Amino acid sequence: GLPASVEALIAKMTVEEKAGQLTLMAAAWAGGAANALNPAASNGTFDAQLAETRAGRLGGVFNGNGAEMARQMQRAAVRESRLKIPLLFAADVIHGFRTVFPVPLAEAASFEPELVEKAARVAAIEAAAAGIDWTFAPMVDVARDARWGRGVEGSGEDVRLGRDMAAARVRGFQGKSLWANDSVMSCAKHFAAYGAAEAGLDYGAVDVSERTLREIYFPPFQAAFDAGSGTVMASFNELSGVPATANPWLLDDVLRKEWGFDGLVVSDYTGDMELIDHGFAADAREATKLAFLAGVDMSMQSGFYMQHLPSLVAAGEVPMARLDQAVRRVLALKVRLGLFDDPFRRIDPRREKTRVRSAGNLAVAREAARRSIVLLKNDGDLLPLPRSGKRIALIGPFAQGKHDLIGPWNVYGSDAEAVDLLTGVRQAMADPSLVTATAGSGVSAPLPGGIEAAVAAANAADIVVLAIGESQDMSGEAQSRNLVVIPPAQQALAEAVAKTGKPIVVLLKNGRALALEGAVLAAPAILVTWFLGSESGPATADILFGRESPSARLPVSFPQVPGQVPYYYAHKRTGRPNPAGPLQPYKTHYREASNAARFPFGHGLTYGRIEYSGLDLGSGTLAWGGTLTVRATITNRGTRTAEEVAQLYVHDQTASLTRPVRELKGYRKIKLAPGESQEVRFTLTRADLQFLGLDNRPAVEAGLFRVWVAPSAEAEGVSGSFTLTQG
Ligand code: IFM
Repeated sequence: GLPASVEALIAKMTVEEKAGQLTLMAAAWAGGAANALNPAASNGTFDAQLAETRAGRLGGVFNGNGAEMARQMQRAAVRESRLKIPLLFAADVIHGFRTVFPVPLAEAASFEPELVEKAARVAAIEAAAAGIDWTFAPMVDVARDARWGRGVEGSGEDVRLGRDMAAARVRGFQGKSLWANDSVMSCAKHFAAYGAAEAGLDYGAVDVSERTLREIYFPPFQAAFDAGSGTVMASFNELSGVPATANPWLLDDVLRKEWGFDGLVVSDYTGDMELIDHGFAADAREATKLAFLAGVDMSMQSGFYMQHLPSLVAAGEVPMARLDQAVRRVLALKVRLGLFDDPFRRIDPRREKTRVRSAGNLAVAREAARRSIVLLKNDGDLLPLPRSGKRIALIGPFAQGKHDLIGPWNVYGSDAEAVDLLTGVRQAMADPSLVTATAGSGVSAPLPGGIEAAVAAANAADIVVLAIGESQDMSGEAQSRNLVVIPPAQQALAEAVAKTGKPIVVLLKNGRALALEGAVLAAPAILVTWFLGSESGPATADILFGRESPSARLPVSFPQVPGQVPYYYAHKRTGRPNPAGPLQPYKTHYREASNAARFPFGHGLTYGRIEYSGLDLGSGTLAWGGTLTVRATITNRGTRTAEEVAQLYVHDQTASLTRPVRELKGYRKIKLAPGESQEVRFTLTRADLQFLGLDNRPAVEAGLFRVWVAPSAEAEGVSGSFTLTQG
């Protein structure tokens, strides 16, 4: 419960002061300048925000610019406003603060929740030192459509991986205690199914079944709440006709009544205002009423609650009890964060200077970056490259320069502070004079003379490293793509360079799964390097030159062609599944090709040669209340130390509802010396085999299950069957 003093405070508040607590605004940056991040936002000047704060019309601000700004605003709140209620400082700390970590999709590729937690911890330490109490992260939207640009901010297509990463990030942000001055409150977003937008078009309508919501899109939110996330952001999209921001079923029946969530619901930016454009509310007043009564406690950026709640309460259209409930949730958050105890606990310009971008933090960023890189192929063991004796031509728009390093949606980091590929490669090479760099093409348009220069550079080298892909503004919010391919100008560059016959290592830059084709797909080696953050160049060089074997795996399936999208591994069988091998008539496939991935979820190679053997399912029977141990042996037959992510998949052969062809149930990342074998062990209980039955309640059915321990969602690995017996 809340301290009595807070209840007493609520009793003293005017309706306007209550609406003020429910109002969150993008910070007008200190110094009176317009907010550089939101130039179009009508959030006025810094002085105007100070005045609003003094008048008790502001509950918090977000995306401000540091401890000094926060100090000035907090002073206005706790010294000059009538009730002296501290402000809440929020920010989008999505993948690091000033030390920038790989984009969340890349971090998910590590398949290492502990590492992701460590990165989130560093982000929290840095952000909190700059006065931030609350981060609008993690984004836990399952994303199965590569066209959708915001998939880059999440953990990919899989529910299990999504749950694990959601929980890891919450633990990292919140630390051991939210009271600590280096912890920030997390916010699970965007509730719900924002990633299921029709045709991958950001903000688009979502129409999925309740079962799909509950089985696919909800579990990462539940994992975030179980890990302690005390806030959630309503999503922009509609759900089967009812915008999430005004959806009582979602925000009240499910979130509050069913799950017992007692934290705070905040709108996504002007989500309440957008109810008008959805065609759901006639005007601002109705939009306010609908969002507020549905369960959005705090309104971000529109100012609607401040403008309309007082009159709605006066007219009896919004009960005072609902207003008090929302205010109580905001104040409870401020209590949990220790702001009533010491409103300046996270505001310390001295700590801000010393705790950001420390050598230790950058080392974690390099580790996270290195362990997020996925090796898609490595024909003839082209990788790792030798550190000496070979001339290397870095070619492509991402070969050098302080751009496209940190990735989309990082408010506080900068490319200028990150290390690029050329620098990283030079540092790693014994003789840095053996490396050259040539752009060869722009990201989207050819460069005059670019291809000629690139071909000349390739001809003068022994090995080409082709750094191509998407720029960082091609993914993220509102960056849906209708063709998930390498931009044609860069594809042309790749084709021309391939004609030189030089061995090519492709370094992909990407915020989504791509359909690779032509010379890019044919290159002997391909590394997915996403957007790796502050230590992009050195981390990439660590893998290129074999300081460490690649250990990451795809968190999203790469389709063969863009026309397969949305493609994800955990699809249903259909009544006419196409067996492996040649296409058969009247089976489930396209005219042109099977509907398999080019590089499936979970795929990724390492520098060793990995072999799976010896699946052991014990008796092959899982008793209703018992456990089944699944064992397999993983061997490194290569000559270098390898890291493998052994993945456990299950398929329920026959059930009262059709089940996906495979579902991930566990994974283990192991390191293997040359020649070494290790046994991996997974324990299954009947809870792992649960699904939502016809009544949308958890069900488990006895019967036959197929099980794989495999290096990807579509690889055979080792497989067998077991039976779940009842009674
Ligand atoms: O947190 C974000 C959200 O993910 C997208 N809209 C704006 C919010 C605040 O910046």
